[in-house]
Amino acid sequence: MLRTHNCGELRPSDVGKKVTLTGWVSRIRDLGGIRFLVLRDRYGETQLVVTPESPAYEKAEELGREYVIKASGEVKSRPKDTINTRIPTGEIEVYVDEIEVLSPSKMPPFYPGEETKDDLRLKYRYLDIRGGRVLKNLEIRHRVARTVRNYLDSQNFLEVETPYLTKSTPEGARDFLVPSRLKKGNFYALPQSPQLFKQILMVSGIDRYYQIARCFRDEDLRADRQPEFTQIDIEMSFVEREDILNLVEGMIRQVFREVLGIELPQEFDKLSYEDAMNLYGSDKPDRRYGMEMKDLTEFFRASKFKIARNVVDKGGFAKGFVVPDFSNRMSRRLGDEFSAFIRDFGLGGIVWFALKDGGIVSPTKKYLEKEYNEISKNLGMKDGDVAILAFHGDWEELCIGLGALRLRMGREYFRDLEKGFDVLWVVDFPFLEWDEEENRWVARHHPFTMPVLEDLRKYKDDPGKIKALAYDIIINGYEVGGGSIRIHNREIQEEVFELIGLTKEEAVEKFGFLLEAFEYGAPPHGGIALGLDRLVAIIAGEKSIRDVIAFPKTASGVCQLTGAPSKVDEKQLRELGIRVEVKG
Ligand code: AMO
Repeated sequence: MLRTHNCGELRPSDVGKKVTLTGWVSRIRDLGGIRFLVLRDRYGETQLVVTPESPAYEKAEELGREYVIKASGEVKSRPKDTINTRIPTGEIEVYVDEIEVLSPSKMPPFYPGEETKDDLRLKYRYLDIRGGRVLKNLEIRHRVARTVRNYLDSQNFLEVETPYLTKSTPEGARDFLVPSRLKKGNFYALPQSPQLFKQILMVSGIDRYYQIARCFRDEDLRADRQPEFTQIDIEMSFVEREDILNLVEGMIRQVFREVLGIELPQEFDKLSYEDAMNLYGSDKPDRRYGMEMKDLTEFFRASKFKIARNVVDKGGFAKGFVVPDFSNRMSRRLGDEFSAFIRDFGLGGIVWFALKDGGIVSPTKKYLEKEYNEISKNLGMKDGDVAILAFHGDWEELCIGLGALRLRMGREYFRDLEKGFDVLWVVDFPFLEWDEEENRWVARHHPFTMPVLEDLRKYKDDPGKIKALAYDIIINGYEVGGGSIRIHNREIQEEVFELIGLTKEEAVEKFGFLLEAFEYGAPPHGGIALGLDRLVAIIAGEKSIRDVIAFPKTASGVCQLTGAPSKVDEKQLRELGIRVEVKG
């Protein structure tokens, strides 16, 4: 090694030692002719002192920030009044008598650790990572992955790699395609997940599989979505739902314990999809804000308020939630703003009332005072509370719209409640959902999920009612993972393909290998995949998964560092038998 110690290592017990450090020059100061340098590496920072008597004094003159240097000298205690309690090496400094420049640096577009534009951070990602925040996140990521591996290893899991060059796997996004040179005109698809391979591994007798696997999905990007991301992918044979939930609970508990020193509950709450929608209007609720929604339809059955009455008479619903201690902030203007917000979700708007000095305050008091009085008692409202209500014919739309407003208010006005970790399972999902664009039923999770078999028989004519043996794990309002018990029988799998509008021929063309495998002894099995990026972002307290990925893409799928995607040589295209004509 070129160094004897790293930059985060030296303590008062090292005083008197001759040491050599290497790293980046983070700061340079000149105080009364003495040069102070702060040297930084992955482990921390150490102050170097170069006095005019030092043989390295001239050399120190040449240095610029971000130069990579090697410096040797003696460790000394810092004078009491210059001790820096913010860093672990703050009680010592190194009096340098030798400096070697290992690599100079141009003036960087920004200094590591400095706030700057996202594009610049990604283009010069090495400077950004050097700055510490992303570096710290990568360390957390490493510790999470290590804990996961150790835990699964202790539970007899085998890590098996599955192909990247493969056939389309249906997870609901577009595929990234890779042209084949040897079979011109044919394409591999990069896997949206290892779903089919892990099921085949179950048929292979590997009863406990996992993989920290890269997945590729060509979909619109958001703060919690990247075109390539990483899953902790798990599959088990001879299990029931509870076995998988227990295993994952153990794993998540272990991760939080080892990485954050936090003890999560021994058992995670379970909420049915229906309850999650009813209470929070979301299948990934963040319960930390409270403000559960309640059904208030009964209060409007005999109402004189036409809008409400019309909806309720036609079999529609009224729902509302209480915003604690909000009457001083609530106003007509804010009410209008919330109405406009909720209209984007297909609802008509909101009505609201506040309880103030024992009385109702509301723009709609004239029409609804009686109902508001009853509701405020029923909801146990306290003085200063505000109730927000909406009416709508479609239950799911009402839940989603009002739930979105609840979440918006939580994030805007109740940031102080965003503490700790709210972990829960959402279970009993509907098996299918109607796809307006494609005009057909599609699988909510994926088509290899086991439906509740009695439902499959019972609701042949109303497939929307069929439930799935599927589950999601939610942390702080983010879907961190999803999985299910799978179909392991060719007939049921074919029946499901038919339900989602795949013809027999299409099913065989796309998934024939899986259907065939099911005919050679397929064990009952199930599994789950957790988004590693999302899990790490939550643990690291980051809003975007970009900050926990070393080299992420921008929202338009560009790698700023390398410039990918980019044009390729004519020769490469010729070899692939491809001619490019760009349209649209
Ligand atoms: P699913 O599609 O729900 O399930 O994905 C599992 C988890 O992966 C994460 N995730 C993503 N993270 C970042 N960027 C993305 N674009 C992205 N898409 C998904 C989420 C999600 O919960 N094969 C099934 C799992 C199974 O059934 O076992 C699957 O892939 O955290």
